[in-house]
Amino acid sequence: MSIPILAGVAWPYANALLHVGNLAGAYLPADIFARYQRMRGRRMLMVSGSDAHGTPILVRALDEGSTPEEVYQHYHERFLELWKKIGITFDLYTSTHTENHRKVSQAIFQALYDNGYLFAQKEQQWYSPSFGFLPDRFVEGTCYICGYPGARGDQCDKCGNLLDATKLINPRSRIDGSVPELRETEHLYFDLPKLQKDLEAWLETKKDAWRPLVVHQSLGVLRSEGLKPRPITRDLTWGIPVPVPGWEHKVMYVWFEAVIGYLSATIEWAQRYADPQAWHEWWYNPEARLYYFIGKDNIPFHALMWPAQTMAAGTRFGELFEGQAPRPLNLPYDVPANAFLNLEGQKISGSRNWAVWCLDFLSRYDPDPLRYYLTIIMPESRDTDWDWEDFLRRNNDELVATWGNLVHRVLSFTYKHGEGRVPEPGELRPEDRELLAQIDQGFTTVGEHLERVQLRAGLVEAMRLAGEVNRYLERRAPWSLVKEGKKEDAGTVMFTAIQAINRLKILLAPYLPFTSEALHHLLGFTQPLFGPLVTEEVEDEWGKRSILHYEADKGTARWEPQDVPPGQALQRPKPLVRKLEPSIVEEERARLGQPPQLGN
Ligand code: MF3
Ligand code: ZN
Repeated sequence: MSIPILAGVAWPYANALLHVGNLAGAYLPADIFARYQRMRGRRMLMVSGSDAHGTPILVRALDEGSTPEEVYQHYHERFLELWKKIGITFDLYTSTHTENHRKVSQAIFQALYDNGYLFAQKEQQWYSPSFGFLPDRFVEGTCYICGYPGARGDQCDKCGNLLDATKLINPRSRIDGSVPELRETEHLYFDLPKLQKDLEAWLETKKDAWRPLVVHQSLGVLRSEGLKPRPITRDLTWGIPVPVPGWEHKVMYVWFEAVIGYLSATIEWAQRYADPQAWHEWWYNPEARLYYFIGKDNIPFHALMWPAQTMAAGTRFGELFEGQAPRPLNLPYDVPANAFLNLEGQKISGSRNWAVWCLDFLSRYDPDPLRYYLTIIMPESRDTDWDWEDFLRRNNDELVATWGNLVHRVLSFTYKHGEGRVPEPGELRPEDRELLAQIDQGFTTVGEHLERVQLRAGLVEAMRLAGEVNRYLERRAPWSLVKEGKKEDAGTVMFTAIQAINRLKILLAPYLPFTSEALHHLLGFTQPLFGPLVTEEVEDEWGKRSILHYEADKGTARWEPQDVPPGQALQRPKPLVRKLEPSIVEEERARLGQPPQLGN
């Protein structure tokens, strides 16, 4: 049996559209990785869903005069539309507003309670006479750590630290701007200091393998300030009710339950698409590898909080959930968090519309140019910048010039001179064999990058190999061979070139799935490389909603060199990627700061 691998992808708050920074931060890297692992034959599962609860959704509902339910449903639908259009292959994309998630979250909460990791404590909390208690994002003010004036009650976006809301300087209510007062309430606290030692010992084992950014923000925090108890209940009604008797009128802190989504979504996937216990392979098998694809602002929640919750639950979760647990739940294997993507030299800001909105982009351009560009500028180790001129150049001079034109040249020439079929080759020359051997090597070199989640490097390597095929064609000049009447030699060259692009199709498939699928079809194959992404309507106690499911077993792509048989009929060639006009740079720059036009 192959290794079970889970890609947990940050659950987006269902309160705003997604921009290219979100895509580059978590969804695209997870998809590239997952497609690759499936091609390797691994038992790959990729799960996520809409983060439906918490103050972000409530704040948006208040601003719009709608209900949190409407806000969540609206953006949830938009997310599903995006995943289909850009090809993010979630085995299950669900939401936190479900009966299954309630059950799983409550079992985790109860497990922490039963294991003695929760204690009640009275605390001072910001209170607005017009609204009631103001948790988390309902209060804003100046960060007491870095001085940033736009800090939220729960976290500072500037320095990334989790905050104690009562310490905010110049607090104001997010609802009406009034100055709140401190009042007493009571909450259940997660006794994190009890886990400090175990977390530190576990992170020590990761410090050489994980990205420095992630190690710094997790182990670094443990070694300096250390962990403090955190309240995990809230005085709200929108959310997952606390299961402990006497506390049912409060809900769980949104981050506490959202990270549990990785587990609950795996369970939901198993119930819907496998057998109800299939999730055990990912959560109990010690060989399983759990990856969390997130942006750097989510690091403390995935590298500290979620592991702490998992440790504290121990075997109690399984006992509560299904009467038995073979082992404690698995901890993260890797948290390949990305830094931020800026836009034309400035921080992306949704509220100022300083953003390239994904659906808006896709109403004017194809998905693969976006996937290409975002991978090339992916902020894998430091913040990077989206620049429209750079986008144009990389589309035209790299994606189109190196890959699209290569494919089009090879296919058009072969189609014309080979009666629409893959030519029967003569004996391959050393340089032909050399080219194919070089590309076959790519399955190792590109594969190693993908295995280590160095996605940008893997794409650069695959494109380098495409460049080799271009140089090979220049050297072997089949067009001259045809003119000189050496038809068989030309056929051998074209046969070799076809085999080369057929292999590159696979090496590029995790990155450019639409282009590879189109090429696969042009090469005369009838079984698809990838399965379809389908949406389904489902219903439970929490209402109706749509979910997304990737039908992985309908795909045939394998991470290995394969041949196109001589004589195979080709489809009439068409260009795979479009060259873009230089005028788009000014047009797109003029759109910055404007609200999105979704093209529908
Ligand atoms: N909703 C959070 C955000 O958009 C991410 C939650 S990730 C989860 O920043 F794992 F907690 F769900
Ligand atoms: Zn700060």
